[in-house]
Amino acid sequence: MTGMVQDKVILVTGGSTGIGRATAQILAREGATVVIADLQDAEGAHTVESITAAGGRAEYQHVDVSDYDAVRALIAGIAARHGGLDCAFNNAGIEGPTAKIMELSVADWQRVIAINLTGVYICMKCELEQMLKQQRGGAIVSTASAAGLIGIPGAAAYNSAKHGVVGLTKTVALEYARQNIRVNAVCPGFIETPMLDRVTDASVKIREQLIGSVPLRRVAQPHEIGDAVAWLMSDKSTYVTGVALPVDGGWVAQ
Ligand SMILES: NC(=O)c1ccc[n+]([C@@H]2O[C@H](COP(=O)([O-])OP(=O)(O)OC[C@H]3O[C@@H](n4cnc5c(N)ncnc54)[C@H](O)[C@@H]3O)[C@@H](O)[C@H]2O)c1
Repeated sequence: MTGMVQDKVILVTGGSTGIGRATAQILAREGATVVIADLQDAEGAHTVESITAAGGRAEYQHVDVSDYDAVRALIAGIAARHGGLDCAFNNAGIEGPTAKIMELSVADWQRVIAINLTGVYICMKCELEQMLKQQRGGAIVSTASAAGLIGIPGAAAYNSAKHGVVGLTKTVALEYARQNIRVNAVCPGFIETPMLDRVTDASVKIREQLIGSVPLRRVAQPHEIGDAVAWLMSDKSTYVTGVALPVDGGWVAQ
């Protein structure tokens, strides 16, 4: 049987846990060779094992997405080992502190922007360099957030970075449309991952409040984002570029 991304070589950043892990598993199941780049080595190895145990192809690389030289070397290595790079999921991110701007330190602002926005810029730049060399198009998907579409008090750096990812996605989509490189973003709402546990402080009450604010009245499982990403990378979405797709149970439609 032919999968949605059969025989494509796909980079997934932040693939050791959460949304990235579930997406890596889906992409491998759909026929891709998946390269996971993350900082959590043991969790990354665990994701790779889960993929190979299911008959898929995956490898793990320790890379900080905010380090330009490391990302450039990562992509050169992927091209050398696997013959190129077809798609990429720029998903690595951190939540940063929950704090209003007056309590948010400059250091925390800079750290969140460095990973969540500059990290996506660095990855896109290096991915595009390789894709342009190959001259066979490509598909890049980045993880923004519902927080990239509306303001949310208490997360100025995170919201600014995610709004930045949406702007970057639209701009780069226009810059490379002629080369048939499609560039899109997914905007998750509340997704059951280690990050959501940290943000809600594992509090049942806070979770119930969140769930009450979602039209579909539940949080999502990570594979529900992965399914959208696989579609955006596949030949089922060949006319879709420059989109920031909410996958949020209707949250930002309110
Ligand atoms: N969980 C949610 O509700 C939610 C909602 C909207 C957006 N998001 C976004 O989804 C993405 C994935 O988050 P998640 O919920 O799966 O959280 P997570 O913490 O489970 O996963 C994030 C992964 O990124 C990795 N990472 C962090 N900094 C890195 C760096 N500098 N270089 C390489 N890897 C790094 C982490 O090690 C981790 O494995 C993030 O961009 C996050 O902002 C999550």
